[in-house]
Amino acid sequence: CELEIELDFIEKSGYEHFMFKEIFEQPQSIKNCMQCRLDTERALVTFDELEDYKTEIINARRIIIVSCGTSWHAGLIGEYFIEKYGELSVEVEYASEFRYRSPIINRGDIVLAISQSGETADTLAATELAKAEGALVLCICNVVGASIPRASHATMYTNAGIEIGVASTKAFSSQVTVLALLSLYIGQIKEKIQPQTAAGLLTELSKLPSVIRKTLQCADTMQFIATELHNFYNCLFLGRGVAFPVALEGALKLKEISYIHAEGYPAAEMKHGPIALIDDKMPVIFIAANNDSYEKIINNIQEVKARKGMVIAIVAEDDTEIKKMADFIVEVPQVNDLMMPIISTIPLQLLAYYSALLRNCDVDQPRNLAKSVTVE
Ligand code: G6P
Repeated sequence: CELEIELDFIEKSGYEHFMFKEIFEQPQSIKNCMQCRLDTERALVTFDELEDYKTEIINARRIIIVSCGTSWHAGLIGEYFIEKYGELSVEVEYASEFRYRSPIINRGDIVLAISQSGETADTLAATELAKAEGALVLCICNVVGASIPRASHATMYTNAGIEIGVASTKAFSSQVTVLALLSLYIGQIKEKIQPQTAAGLLTELSKLPSVIRKTLQCADTMQFIATELHNFYNCLFLGRGVAFPVALEGALKLKEISYIHAEGYPAAEMKHGPIALIDDKMPVIFIAANNDSYEKIINNIQEVKARKGMVIAIVAEDDTEIKKMADFIVEVPQVNDLMMPIISTIPLQLLAYYSALLRNCDVDQPRNLAKSVTVE
């Protein structure tokens, strides 16, 4: 027993929880994920693992992403990236729904499975179904040699290192990084992206590990906000554009480990239902670090404030307006749209972590949840 405790201590490297350790490992896990793929000198993205399938990717008509849980949120972010930079149509499906429909898989469709463990039963079944229907099946996975990579034609490994906390953190940011690189790779091989644009984006992306390190400095702020948030029973997360899947992921993290009921919504949908819930007992977390929808987000914040909702806003460091309106402000570095989802998710991971601690929840092994869901 003593030995077990000692081993546990070593694996956590002095951190109290695996989740906290894994959140702070993100600068390194992202670096590992980008290594060998991002060549800033030649302004190129390379995926050796896709070399045999280049022609199919160039001629693809659509990518169907299948995944579950946090990996599904990464897929939604990937949809924005691949449609914008790869100019390729993307659909994102819950693997559990896809496998039980009669999905139409046409010539030129690529199915992309995303799974940290590579063992999720529904994602594996969706992968096998797509392969049987004749699709080219690619996957993004963290565990080498797992069942989903074995059932796929090619695998892009995230190289995030083993993830033990049930709530996924570093595996998620690595999945998003692979998707960012993949979108640029598709744009490059299809010649849809200007070399100069690619060069600029890749130089920015190469700074991601150091930008994450800087973002992690918000830990104290998130701990402070959690002292307020952990007393609430409900919480709403809102974002527009690529910040919408970030809102979903923030809500999932909070409910998974702190058991506070949380929902993520596209901010524009607030008026179609959630606004009815807003009062002084409904904190609202806005993911507002993307500039393209700034004015619209300000309107949403005003609507919440008018109904006495507490506003917590994640904003870029050059923000001027939202700072004046929100109850709590979290500043994150100003980054491009490929990096923004990761940079905005980090404070939300920390918020969930500190809220769970204050509620005396088991952060690494939340009730009723498993790291890998290998049964239906
Ligand atoms: C479980 C885990 C989640 C994970 C999901 C999908 O629900 O608790 O953290 O996102 O499975 O797992 P996968 O290994 O396929 O990414």
